[in-house]
Amino acid sequence: PQRPRIFSGMQPTSDSLHLGNYLGALTQWVALQESYDALYCVVDLHALTVGPDPAVLRERTRRTAAQYLAAGVDPARSILFVQSHVAAHSELAWLLSCQTGFGEASRMTQFKDKSTRYGQEGTTVGLFTYPVLMAADILLYDTALVPVGEDQRQHLELTRDLAQRLNARFGAGTAVVPEAHIVKATAKIYDLQEPTAKMSKSAASPNGIIELLDDPKVVAKRIRSAVTDAEREIRYDPEAKPGIANLLTIYSALTGRDVLAIEAEYQGKGYGDLKKDLADVVVDFLTPFQERVHGYLADPASLDDVLADGAERAQELASGMLDRVYDRMGL
Ligand code: ADP
Ligand code: NA
Repeated sequence: PQRPRIFSGMQPTSDSLHLGNYLGALTQWVALQESYDALYCVVDLHALTVGPDPAVLRERTRRTAAQYLAAGVDPARSILFVQSHVAAHSELAWLLSCQTGFGEASRMTQFKDKSTRYGQEGTTVGLFTYPVLMAADILLYDTALVPVGEDQRQHLELTRDLAQRLNARFGAGTAVVPEAHIVKATAKIYDLQEPTAKMSKSAASPNGIIELLDDPKVVAKRIRSAVTDAEREIRYDPEAKPGIANLLTIYSALTGRDVLAIEAEYQGKGYGDLKKDLADVVVDFLTPFQERVHGYLADPASLDDVLADGAERAQELASGMLDRVYDRMGL
């Protein structure tokens, strides 16, 4: 029997993913490969919404793919590909945009946030229709489950509404209605300097972020300078002690050890001890990770082969769904 299908992707909008992307998304993707039929995509068409330099976009797309591989996305088991290599994404997005209400799209809170940030001139129509493209990404593969963070919940709801609308207008079985896949155990990682804000590439200062391709010495220094609190006790309390709780979360996620066990080990020790040991843990993770990434980037022909093979397999799956929708829409 076929295993349930999942789809997920990240935008190639930075040179390096950060530790939040790794612990909150990539480790989950890798684990999901065991029991699901997974497609993992570098969503470069989405990245176009903010007008990247072409050479930079191309490079970031490759680096993002290399980081998926280094994290353990296995192209023998999952389909790893670049969104723009499969034209069906753009095609289905148009078909779906003609099924999406203008008012419905206008209610997307992420668009409201971003258009406020970019202003009238900087805000593209692509930024507005971004959630429709995301719906196409998902529906194209008859996806059953979508691992999503909280910030994408509303977009997934739109995707579900569109799938139901297609089925109502064009016949049952036109689209599979996907479910959100929320893994409770997924770590949410916070900014080292501002531990109540999530670690994000759009943070004001780089000092709060651990980028996966950063120099390990710089990372160790950032961990040692992480904001904590005026107490001395190492205790997991995200409300009262967000800085220490964040460090414990990272420690636990990277070692697989229980937070309580780590807490017990640091009874009577100082914040400096925890930070020093955590810096070692992070560096021990980053060093081989970076070696793997650089290995993939140093062999562009092999990386191209992996991505071409992924695109071919994705294309084959996508064409079934797209042909069905064209036909049912009278095209
Ligand atoms: P960013 O917030 O840096 O722009 P994205 O929004 O591109 O990151 O997120 C890509 C993936 O990484 C999503 O699945 C998202 O839920 C996850 N993610 C991003 N930041 C964090 C974080 N600080 N902690 C846990 N997961 C995160
Ligand atoms: Na984001």
